[in-house]
Parts: sequence; structure tokens; C-alpha cells
Amino acid sequence: MAKRQPNFICQSCGAVYNRWKGKCEACGGWNSIAEETGSASPLSGPVATRPSRAKGRIFPLEGLTGETKEAPRTPSGIAELDRVTGGGFVRGSVILLGGDPGIGKSTLLMQASAALAKKGHRVAYISGEEAVAQVRLRAERLGLADAPVELASETNVEDIVATLTQGRAPALAIIDSIQTMWTETVESAPGTVTQVRGSAQALIRFAKTSGTAVILVGHVTKDGQIAGPRVVEHMVDAVASFEGDTGHHFRILRSVKNRFGPTDEIGVFEMSDQGLREVSNPSELFLSGRDLAAPGTAVFAGMEGTRPVLVEMQALVAPSALGTPRRAVVGWDPSRLSMVLAVLEAHGGLRLGMHDVYLNVAGGLRITEPAADLAAAAALVSSLSGSPLPPDSVFFGELGLSGAIRPVAQAPARLKEAAKLGFSRAVSPVPRKEKGERQALATNAIGHITDLVAGIAAERPRQKAVPFRREG
Ligand code: TYD
Ligand code: MG
Repeated sequence: MAKRQPNFICQSCGAVYNRWKGKCEACGGWNSIAEETGSASPLSGPVATRPSRAKGRIFPLEGLTGETKEAPRTPSGIAELDRVTGGGFVRGSVILLGGDPGIGKSTLLMQASAALAKKGHRVAYISGEEAVAQVRLRAERLGLADAPVELASETNVEDIVATLTQGRAPALAIIDSIQTMWTETVESAPGTVTQVRGSAQALIRFAKTSGTAVILVGHVTKDGQIAGPRVVEHMVDAVASFEGDTGHHFRILRSVKNRFGPTDEIGVFEMSDQGLREVSNPSELFLSGRDLAAPGTAVFAGMEGTRPVLVEMQALVAPSALGTPRRAVVGWDPSRLSMVLAVLEAHGGLRLGMHDVYLNVAGGLRITEPAADLAAAAALVSSLSGSPLPPDSVFFGELGLSGAIRPVAQAPARLKEAAKLGFSRAVSPVPRKEKGERQALATNAIGHITDLVAGIAAERPRQKAVPFRREG
């Protein structure tokens, strides 16, 4: 009999080594490698159960054209959730839902389960983390205790699959969470990469054979990765992450990967004492509580997937007491801030080397679009100069290293949303080509960062010191 070799497996990326190392060469993680015994080659997943045969089965190969039915979907009726899944849960698909602990994953899934169950679908909610009584308490708190959801507190994948294949196949099965699951085909402890991968494989196989849509909950580590399940991400059909910070009430469900629908799409929810409430107009929420008279705030007309979202960017530029000034960013990419600061210095005539710079996206949204450059620059210039930006203006545009303002996609949608919310001006790049399209808003097209700085200086109501002093 072949001797079982211990394997050393990186718990964050799944790389396999034959001896222990302090640092994973594949992902660069420190102290992430742990010993696991189990199947000789963990990459092959659970040991194949098919008896070895001399010859393989012959299967027909097919062409690209042929009869394909539209993926049959089960909408949850929660519009913000259906928007992210692309119109409902696809039969036989597997979704990985990641998010920080306590962000509201179980709450969201309980609400989705109850909505589906109330429509007459069979829904199973398997919790590996909480006892049945705890899940019931949450359902009661959400006012959903009367929904016919089938509940269990189980962690063994074989038992779960055996139970769920009895009777009518469920339309939806929730596994909360994949890290607590274990399968008998793998010897490692629950929570290890091998177990997570083995359990996920078994559940994916169940989904494909039964037609049940399965949602796997995955925890996220400090650095934003779905722990262990980096290795699961490529096996599932869709990956969604539930974001937000616990200091704010609203939560964003973001589609990261979707084989059956759009990515970059977001659903916005608000956490209340009765669970998650849908927010159908996020711009209103992100702009509420705006301080119109304060310098350093600019409204960014952004896009999240197909949906325009207006959000306030706040900047604070203050003389630094330290040798090396601080740069702190919340909700935006720090390296983009460095770039915008460099462009403002090189081409805008601003001196920021002796100033601390703070940038914050109000409300806890995370912006990834380069189109936010212009809004960030406007907020920074406004804060440094002490002159508030006109409260009826929105900003968008990408900044080039030469100081040029580059056009961005979907300008008409951004302008339309801004007009809808009562804005009357947009500071934006010169559009690529006018197609005689009527614009929803008066645009103040600017081609270079100097135009922005000059524009803000001109807005400044008779004030004291000249803000753009050149030093040295
Ligand atoms: P939970 O869904 O348990 O988070 P996760 O599964 O992502 O770990 O939600 C936990 C938080 O949500 C908890 O701090 C309490 C809060 N919450 C509300 O504010 N209102 C509610 O109605 C519910 C059910 C939870
Ligand atoms: Mg939970």
C-alpha cells in the first residue's frame, strides 16, 4: 500500500509543498502553510469513487450551435438581490457569498429564503455555525417565523446531501458557512483548504445533479480575501461579496464574478432593526446629510455596473506637524490619491508636500472607477483653498499624468442621474464626439487640470489669503 505523505498546504491560496515553509512562494503569505494529511494529491480533490476501468465511456461531442434554453431562474422578489444575481437564482448554480463577520450575510440569506419559501418553493437553510434555536430567533426578529423554510444545524456534507436529495429537490439551499463543513472523503480538519475544497466540490456536484441553487457563505479574512475559499472562487458559478462597515447602516452586495449575469452590479441595503431594507435610490442615501457650505467636498457622478450612483467625496488638506506628511484614504485607492496629488503638484501649481491629506468617500462606499479622479482633485483643491465648490455641481473625469482630463464611459447616464437629483451643472471632460444628443445637464467641459484649479479659484468669494502659494 502506498504510504501517505503529509502535505503542507498554504491555507490562503492552496499551494502544495512537501515540507513546511515560513512563507508561501505562491501568494507571499507568511505563516500560512499548515500540515494536512489526506488524499495523496490534494489538488485532485476528494478521491474518485468510480472503480478503475480499462476503457473510458464514449460520450457525444456537440457543436456550438444547438438548442439552449435560457437559464431558468428563480427570482427572490428582493429587487436589489435579483439585480446582483442577474434576475434570480439560476437552477443548479452555486453562489459564493463572502463578507466580514457580522455584516449581515445570514440575515440577507434568511430574508431571501423566506421570500422564496413563501412563494411555494422548497428552501433549505443549513447552518453550521448557529443552533436551530438561534436561527429561529433571527427569523422571529425579522418577522419571518411563519415562512416554511426547512432548517437544520449540520456540518457533515454527506448527511446534508443525503437529506436534501430526499423528496422534491429544493429550489434553494443555503450553506452557512462553507468553512464549517466537512466531508468524509478528506481527512483534514474542518476549515482547512482541503476540507473546504472537498466540501465545496461535493455541494457543487449536488447542485448540478439536483438542479438546486446552492449558496455557500464564506468568511472573509482581514485583508479582504474569502478565507481558504480563494480555491473555491474558481469552482463556483458566481461570487458576491457583502460589504459595508459596521459603523454605517447600509450594506452593499457586489457581484464579483457571475457566469449567468452581470458583474460590477451592486445591490444596496440598509440594516434596520427589522433586518435588511432595500434602498432603491442609493444616490439619495449617499448624499443625505451633505454640508453644502463646507470646503473640501465634491459630488462624484459615478457608475456601479449599469446604475449611476452619486456620492460625496470629502478631502481635508491641512498643514502637517510631522516630517513626513500623512496620506489617509477611506473608500478609494491610495495609489490613485498619490497620483492625483502628484498631478496637482506638477501641473496644477499646488504645493502639498507640507500638508497632511485625508480623503474619504462618504457613507462607506468603495469607489474603484478612475472617473473619480476629477471629483477627488476638486475636493482636494477646494479644501486647500478653503473655498466651497458650488453645491449644484457634480464632477467626473479621469486624470492623465500629463494633467489632461480624459473622457469616461457612460457620461449621459451620469448626467441624467445628476439632473434627476436636482443638480444643474457638471464639471466633466470634453466629450469624445457630439452626436447631437441632448444632454440632461449643462456641462462645464474642461480639458486640463489647470482649468479645474482656475475654475475653483474664480468661484472663491472675496476671501483672505491666496491659497495657491508657490513655495521655494
Ligand atoms: P448576521 O446576519 O448574523 O451577520 P453574518 O452572518 O454576516 O455574520 O448579522 C449580524 C448583525 O446584524 C448583528 O450585529 C446584528 C445586526 N442585525 C440588525 O441590526 N437587525 C436585524 O434585524 C438583524 C437580524 C441583525
Ligand atoms: Mg452568519
